[in-house]
Amino acid sequence: MSEQSPVITLDGPGGAGKGTLAGLLSDWLGWSLLDSGALYRLVGLSALRAGLSADKAVDIEAAAALARALDVQFLAEAGAQRIELAGEDVTETIRQDEIAQAASQWAAQPVVREALLTRQRTFAGSPGLIADGRDMGTVIFPDADLKIFVTASAEERARRRYDQLSATDETANLSRIYREIVDRDTRDASREASPLKPADDAYVIDTTGDNVATSSRKVRDLVVAKGWLAD
Ligand code: C5P
Repeated sequence: MSEQSPVITLDGPGGAGKGTLAGLLSDWLGWSLLDSGALYRLVGLSALRAGLSADKAVDIEAAAALARALDVQFLAEAGAQRIELAGEDVTETIRQDEIAQAASQWAAQPVVREALLTRQRTFAGSPGLIADGRDMGTVIFPDADLKIFVTASAEERARRRYDQLSATDETANLSRIYREIVDRDTRDASREASPLKPADDAYVIDTTGDNVATSSRKVRDLVVAKGWLAD
């Protein structure tokens, strides 16, 4: 991508810390952000509301049509991002685990992925882009300037999600969260269309046992080595 605006891809399984690292990178560099998982979650939410089933061919086409027509706005607000779907604030709604599972089911459908492809590429632009997802470095931006694959053990990712949920939800259950994480990883990594995997030229960062300061230091070192940031 040498003549175009630079792109950093951050791929990896859910709960590995990509979102936090992407936000930090965007703050440090002043580049924009693509949260591609949010697009799949919006498809999941829209398809659930439309009562679509991933087992029916006609519904798969309908979900792809929903994906093409998504009326989404990503709004930067007080250091956080607000996501609106046709004017409705769905920022919290799409973070629910039920929506994550729906997103992962529709994300396995090649026509749904195809429907989101061009929209994702249009996020690239000056001064640069941080693209967060599963296939950013392998499929959407194969010529990205820096590719990072962020991972952590399923046990640790489940524990992080449990700690986050149990603060507000007393029914949060660690073993159920763990099972959902393993199910989603398995589906995302074993699908034929753009499976979750590191690009051959990605730097792999395992955040198991790391706090945010440690993992962000590893990412910062890569960006400093590129000359995009002073140490
Ligand atoms: O990253 P997040 O947890 O929001 O992603 C939700 C789901 O969307 C993932 O489990 C995955 O199935 C799908 N996804 C994808 N490709 C991307 C981003 C997300 O398949 N680039």
